[in-house]
Amino acid sequence: MSKPHWRPAHASDLPAISAIAARIHPDLPESPEVLAEKMRLYPDGCRVLVVGDEIAGYGLSHPWKQHRIPPLDGLLERLPEDADCLYIHDVAVLAESRGGVLRAYIADIEPLARASGLATLALVSVYATQPLWQRLGFRPVTADADLRAKLASYGEGATYMLRDLAAT
Ligand SMILES: CC(C)(COP(=O)(O)OP(=O)(O)OC[C@H]1O[C@@H](n2cnc3c(N)ncnc32)[C@H](O)[C@@H]1OP(=O)(O)O)[C@@H](O)C(=O)NCCC(=O)NCCS
Repeated sequence: MSKPHWRPAHASDLPAISAIAARIHPDLPESPEVLAEKMRLYPDGCRVLVVGDEIAGYGLSHPWKQHRIPPLDGLLERLPEDADCLYIHDVAVLAESRGGVLRAYIADIEPLARASGLATLALVSVYATQPLWQRLGFRPVTADADLRAKLASYGEGATYMLRDLAAT
């Protein structure tokens, strides 16, 4: 079987992406329209992990504003014109295909962010994944009241994190 590799996501990948999302995030459900919108608004940031003939994971990112968190399961409507970060909405990979693939996804989107003039990567860490993201150079950001309220929909322990690309 060929080595797992990331490729750009196509609209036809949506059923596979939704199925993986439902399996890995049963407590954080998002409708297929919400996932599809991200693919439409920023196809460059949306990738699937291919293992053999199967899709084993996905990564979705889009330009956004630092210290702002898009609502979970909500439409973005449009991307901000004054975006100052590439926001990693989610990366999820089936258990049997994990091991080095998140690092590979981040390595793919870093040049994308730089090429778009975005010097920062942002995300919400869930499920106690903070140490993993720290390993990839992200730092937790102290949330103000507004940010804390938005983080609440992502479950307990959700942490907003940033990584400055200029410094790396
Ligand atoms: C998050 C996920 C995509 C990671 O995939 P992966 O292939 O295991 O990730 P990688 O192996 O590329 O890990 C990146 C780094 O974090 C490290 N790491 C992994 N788990 C870790 C942990 N629990 N604590 C600290 N570091 C960890 C890895 O060793 C690797 O560092 P290295 O390259 O220096 O060895 C996968 O675990 C997943 O799909 N989880 C469920 C969904 C999820 O939680 N998504 C994130 C939502 S914020």
